[in-house]
Amino acid sequence: MVEILKSNGKGIKRAVEILASGGLVAFPTETVYGLGCDALNERAVWKVFEIKKRPLSKPLIVGVSSKDEVYSLAEVPEDAEKLIDAFFPGPLTIVLRKKSSVPDIVTGGGSKVAVRMPDHEIPLKLMKGLGNPIVVPSANISGRPSPMTYRHVIEDLGDNIEAIVVGECSVGIESTIVDVTEKPARVVRTGAIGLAELKKHVDLIVGKEREGTYHISCPVYVFIGRRAEEKVREFAEKARSRGLSVAIIAKKLEGENVITIGSSPEEYTSNLFSAIRKAESMRPNLIVIEGLEEHEGVMDRLKKLAGERIFRT
Ligand code: TXA
Ligand code: MG
Repeated sequence: MVEILKSNGKGIKRAVEILASGGLVAFPTETVYGLGCDALNERAVWKVFEIKKRPLSKPLIVGVSSKDEVYSLAEVPEDAEKLIDAFFPGPLTIVLRKKSSVPDIVTGGGSKVAVRMPDHEIPLKLMKGLGNPIVVPSANISGRPSPMTYRHVIEDLGDNIEAIVVGECSVGIESTIVDVTEKPARVVRTGAIGLAELKKHVDLIVGKEREGTYHISCPVYVFIGRRAEEKVREFAEKARSRGLSVAIIAKKLEGENVITIGSSPEEYTSNLFSAIRKAESMRPNLIVIEGLEEHEGVMDRLKKLAGERIFRT
């Protein structure tokens, strides 16, 4: 059985014990729940790939508990220093040339390692207790939306992991990832920190759009633009009049089978992934979502959900 641990001294001590013996522990970070193990223990890292059903070629992010620790794992060029100063701890991941201290399995055999320092006391305490960095991939089966609660972690990983430390995630969307091994630095995943914010510190280009789609139990339709709310309502009504059941995720709209998630970027991101899982649990024929056009990270995730079914109104 997976142990459900509190984030008090006793719970953290137990979680550290499990990590030290090569076990897997899930925990909240400021973005989403992460699945951790000792990043320097190859066998444990291998289990993370296996349990997440993640291809071995897709590298894991390594979490650190201090800015200094980054230097023992990787080469740190000037742009990286600026970003570390400005955003660590926080929802930014930087990709660097790895040193030999990082096992090859962590980086999928590649020469670069992605590093981040979570802004959350639970993972920081776990790393300090362990005395090593821990990997911090999201604690879901590969291809599923990231978990926001320990119940979501149980849904996906259940008894395949040793423990979950229970706590709150606040941001709700994964870290932004920037590769700083070349100049200009390149954004490889949009996310919690906006590009405009990053550009205040370093020159940036945006990498080609990420591939991939989420595994969701029904088709997802997204509407953006000035009349998005109205179109969401019309589209859902039409589908219902044809006998289809519809779950709606909208900013302010309320009603039956409508999940209201708020219109500020903070409210929207913190509720989106939970709303998707909740919508799926209603077992609808389709899910209709009102998008948040001004947020690059959200739009990236909505594209992964809806594919081509994004409509501007
Ligand atoms: O907010 C987050 O970053 C969360 C929390 C739990 O830390 N973690 C997370 O991990 O989103 P994951 O595994 O779901 O996504 C990590 C992403 C993947 O798209 C992976 O390809 C990319 O990071 N990545 C990891 N190492 C990389 C590297 N060396 N070069 C380029 N991309 C890398
Ligand atoms: Mg993930």
